Amino acid sequence: MMHTTDGSPGPVPAVPGPEPEIDPAAFDLLPPPADFVPRAYDYYRALRTDRPVHRLSDGSYLLTRYDDLVAAYRNPSVWSSDKTVDFKPKFGDSPLYEHHTTSLVFRDPPDHTRIRKLFQHAFTRKALAALEPRIHALVDGYLDELEDRREMEVVGDFSFKLPVEVVCDMLGVPASDRILIRDWALLILGALEPILPQDRFEAGCRAVEDFKAYLRDQIRHLKAHPSDRRDGEILSALVDAEEDGQKLTELELLHQCIFLLNAGHETSTNMLSHGIHEFLNHPAEIARLRADPGLAESAVEEVLRYHPPIQINNRRALVDTDLSGFAFPTGSMVHLMIGAANRDPDQFPDPDRFDIARRPNRHLSFGLGIHICAGNALARLEGQIAFGKLFDRFPSLNLVAPARLSNRVRFREVTELRIAL
Ligand code: HEM
Repeated sequence: MMHTTDGSPGPVPAVPGPEPEIDPAAFDLLPPPADFVPRAYDYYRALRTDRPVHRLSDGSYLLTRYDDLVAAYRNPSVWSSDKTVDFKPKFGDSPLYEHHTTSLVFRDPPDHTRIRKLFQHAFTRKALAALEPRIHALVDGYLDELEDRREMEVVGDFSFKLPVEVVCDMLGVPASDRILIRDWALLILGALEPILPQDRFEAGCRAVEDFKAYLRDQIRHLKAHPSDRRDGEILSALVDAEEDGQKLTELELLHQCIFLLNAGHETSTNMLSHGIHEFLNHPAEIARLRADPGLAESAVEEVLRYHPPIQINNRRALVDTDLSGFAFPTGSMVHLMIGAANRDPDQFPDPDRFDIARRPNRHLSFGLGIHICAGNALARLEGQIAFGKLFDRFPSLNLVAPARLSNRVRFREVTELRIAL
């Protein structure tokens, strides 16, 4: 197996060799089993069946049943998202601590409510409709570039480009800086993995500081050149909000922008990469979509269900509480295993089948409740347009090799996917 500089296993092929027996009672995330990434859904099945509430070595609990995740998401006054206590031992007084405890996803009401309201205007139907022609044009442009090529590397040539350009547009930062933003996102979100080596921690801290300096420069530019400000861009709103000083502090706004830029592309990139990979593993589903483009919506839902780009959300019990007949004392930390819930046979008949017409398909890939993904409609639209156009334009795509996945467990990440055009 390849190894990265931090000593952790490197990218792993999606399809492994002979598979040893799984013992769910011995399962841990600190560290996860060596074959966890390629066999994640086998581990999830074993846990969900035998140990749906499973205690890890650090005293936290893994939840894998659909109904249990729904119950936790739906009850934020019992199950808190606030990470100010949890992240202290891991991040200390560092920039990573400042970032992850300031961004809205890790805050509870009333702070969460106040911050989420500020971004509401960026996610209205009108704002989304305004982005739609841009998404079409971007996808057409990438496909034009591929027209004369025999092969493409999906991540670099396609699935990374679209979400990052769209989210840069939304924020109002130059898309030419996308590589910077991608690298920062990988380091900042990568720091949320259960195990964080020292060099990754330091690089993550530098990334937060560099990202803040970058956004401050952008703001300085907008202040000096008001004519460069466009209506609806979040960064322009940041300038105003900073100036009236009412709603959010400058630091809070910088961290929400960093979070949006990160959350808004890394997840969608993986949705596109996993989707293309899974379609190519199931050519009959491509034929179905080409024959009936009306299936684009349900196809995106199935891609999201099948491989949730975010595999784990966390919550902590604010009071003694009951879930699934199990008594959780105050302070219990739970890992909501989205990839396991999305294949719970009590909710999804024949759950390991990839069926682009599956209905109903109430997967949990965008979470649920007050923290439900603010960008879910945008991500869905990106997927519908991207899959539809790609398979329409290139009718006979083939895998050159199975997708390579990173060894991250919180984010299911495709690092390389080569296909023949
Ligand atoms: C396929 C793509 C995406 C997936 C799978 C995804 C997944 C998620 C999940 C699971 C959460 C909930 C976290 C929790 O409850 O703890 C979340 C929250 C969030 N997402 Fe996404 N996301 C995606 C795309 C996007 C995009 C495109 C944007 C913005 C441009 C975005 C912005 C956000 C924001 C702002 C939150 C925090 C919401 C809150 O805490 O109130 N996401 N996302």
